[in-house]
Parts: sequence; structure tokens; C-alpha cells
Amino acid sequence: MKKLRVGVIGCGSIAEIAHFPSIAGMPDVELAAVCDTKEEFAEHAARKWQAKASYTDYEKMLSKCKYLDAVVIATPPKFHREHGMAVAQAGVNVLIEKPLACTNEEAWDIVKAARAAGVKLMVGCDRRFWSQNQWAKELSRSGVIGKVVMGRATMHEHVKFYQDNIAFTDFRLYPEIAGGSAVSDTGAHAIDLLVWLMGAPVKRVLGIADRRVLPEEYSRCDDTAVIMMEHENKALSYVSCNRFSPVVSQFTELYGSEGTIMTSSDAQNPYQSAPLAVYTNRDYRHEELPELLREYRWPQVFWAEDIIADSVQKRWVSLYPPREPNNYANLWRHFADCIISATEPLTSGEDGAHAVEVMCAVFRSMETGSWVDLPLQQEVIPPYYCRD
Ligand SMILES: NC(=O)c1ccc[n+]([C@@H]2O[C@H](COP(=O)([O-])OP(=O)(O)OC[C@H]3O[C@@H](n4cnc5c(N)ncnc54)[C@H](O)[C@@H]3O)[C@@H](O)[C@H]2O)c1
Repeated sequence: MKKLRVGVIGCGSIAEIAHFPSIAGMPDVELAAVCDTKEEFAEHAARKWQAKASYTDYEKMLSKCKYLDAVVIATPPKFHREHGMAVAQAGVNVLIEKPLACTNEEAWDIVKAARAAGVKLMVGCDRRFWSQNQWAKELSRSGVIGKVVMGRATMHEHVKFYQDNIAFTDFRLYPEIAGGSAVSDTGAHAIDLLVWLMGAPVKRVLGIADRRVLPEEYSRCDDTAVIMMEHENKALSYVSCNRFSPVVSQFTELYGSEGTIMTSSDAQNPYQSAPLAVYTNRDYRHEELPELLREYRWPQVFWAEDIIADSVQKRWVSLYPPREPNNYANLWRHFADCIISATEPLTSGEDGAHAVEVMCAVFRSMETGSWVDLPLQQEVIPPYYCRD
């Protein structure tokens, strides 16, 4: 079997906890080369994950390893444009961690470079690959909650949680390199997930992103973000993210004309309950229920209750998707399949650029105090971001 040969630029935390293990778990993908400006990180990753070569200079990696089928970019956001464009221009497929870039112009530059080179560009928005969110999308598509009209995605998590326990470097604390925090680190996930689940791109944005809690000496990044989005299909959605809550919590809610879907993870909702819950107001006979709902509808009295009723009793149904394969294993299987079968990734470059447009629109909305229409007409530079 011919294996896909992969290179990784940036051997830090997300490479270590997500990309390397996912690659190692795939029989048709191999880690060919790694690169990190910190030699010890590159060499450690090469040894641990058995890469054939390690580099401190990505240009050298690209020129020496002409055989690469794909490169992962897991460097801080400021470098995504430079690295993404170089990989695309070398004719290699590219998977770039979120956020795709720090400004709208940077993001579209990467998309254009990938399109011009004819390579696949995928963005590492892994929330779409959580099983509970994939099931939510499948159920919503099947019509169980009718027309999706309102949505909300939240992610509240102190920046120290990741910074002190998981990250390899401290770029998150510096808006010059990170581009933002509540909006573009955690918010990147929430925005992308809502665009997908609401079923349409965003038409206009109203938002606040500000530093309200963390001391300036610790970080000048925004630590509080609320974002209102009106989508092209008239749906309305809302993002709430922060970097100061001492406990991690996250929810996604979809409100449709005929029902409601909520997702989280059992560890990140305070009830430590099911990762997915669905209520449908539609009249279903038992045999007409979408398979996922039929499987998880436990009888309240006995099985016949559902089977003999004209339409099944209306109530919340809790669903428990399998924990494995996990989100990154799903994401990686999808990326490899897109390369092998020449299909478009679920989280395309355009999706990544659209999410960056929303983030930049929030910063613009902070300045103007009003709604900002998409697509943006000018480049928006986040506060303190150092565009070279
Ligand atoms: N999808 C997710 O849930 C998720 C989670 C964590 C991080 N991320 C994203 O992944 C990216 C990296 O974050 P991280 O937490 O792994 O950071 P990190 O600080 O742990 O690692 C970054 C690595 O990049 C290296 N690096 C920096 N500049 C470089 C350059 N010019 N060339 C080569 N290597 C360079 C650093 O030495 C470091 O090893 C960010 O875009 C972040 O938003 C995504």
C-alpha cells in the first residue's frame, strides 16, 4: 500500500496531542518529516513519532522532501500565511490549524495560493469532527427540528488552563503573534461550528471583544467576546467565549421551528450529562424515526409504548456517541480521504477564511459600535497584532 507522506511544521502541543497520534494511528499515512524552529522540539518529535527527518527551517524541509503529499501547519497564527502559502506553492496539500490566519487579507491570500496551485487546503476546525456535532448535523439535516432559526455556541475556558498545562510556548498571551484570544482562539471553534450547523454563511456581525478580567501585564489579548451573527438564510446565532472562567464549559444549541438540539461533552457541561440531546415536536411513528433517535429512545414503561403509539411520545432523547474514534482521528481520516479521492474537505480554506472574516468583523464592530457587513471591504488588523 502506498502511504501518504506527511510533514509537520510546528511540533508543539497540538501536534503532540492531536496530529502525531492521529497520523500514527493510520495505516495508510506516515510521518515523513518534522520542522520546528526549536531544534529540541523537532528532534524530540522525530524520535518519539519516528519521523525520518527533522528540520529547523521549513524551506529546507520543503526543498529536501519533494515527495511530501501533505504538510500540517501547527505554528502560531501569525506564521500561518507564510507557511501555508509556501507549502501550497510547493504543490503540497496543506492542513492548517485554526484560526486560518490573523487578518482577512492573510486568510484569503492562503486560499488563493492553494487554489492557484490546485492543492487541498483544510482548516483544523475539529469541532465539526466531534461525533456529537456530526450527529447533530445529521439529525438537523434529516429535518427533526424543522427549520433551524437560532443557534448559540459557547466556550469558556481560562487561558491559563491550556497555557500552563499543555502549550509548548506562550504565544497565546501575545496579540502581536496570536491575533486575539477569546475571539480567535476559542471563538474560532464556536464561529465555525455555528456557520456549519446553521447551514449558511454569515451576512453581518455585531460584537464585543475586550480585555475585561486578565491583568494587562499578563496578556493584552481580548478575554471576553460576545458575537451576534445574522446568516444568509436569515438564521440568527450567538457566540459567547471567554478566557477567564476557572472551569471549562462549552455548549452548542440549535433552535428549530419543530425542535431543539443541544450538544456539549459530558466533561464540559456542569450536569456531566449526555453529550447530545434532541427534542422533536414532529409526529413520528416509531419506524419512521431517524435511526439515531430510534436507537437511543429508551422506553419509559416498556418497548411496546413506542411501537403501539400512533406517533411516539414527545420528549427529550439523550444520545451517547462513541468516544472513539476521537475528533482528531475523524479529522485526519477525512483529510487523507480527501487527498486520496480528490474531494473537497469539510472544513475548506474558504470556511477558514470566512471564520476569520467574522473575527475581524468583531474587532471592526468594536470600533464602530455597529453591525459590520461581510465580506469585509478592507483588511482589518486586530488590536496590537503585528502584521509584517
Ligand atoms: N484545534 C484545536 O483545538 C487547537 C488546540 C491547540 C492549538 N491549536 C492551534 O494550533 C496552533 C499551534 O498551537 P499550539 O498550542 O500547538 O502552540 P505551541 O506553543 O504548543 O506550539 C507551537 C510550536 O510552533 C513552533 N514554532 C513557532 N514559530 C515557528 C516557525 N516560524 N517555524 C516553525 N516552528 C515554529 C514553536 O517552537 C512550538 O513548538 C495555533 O494556531 C493554535 O490556535 C488548535
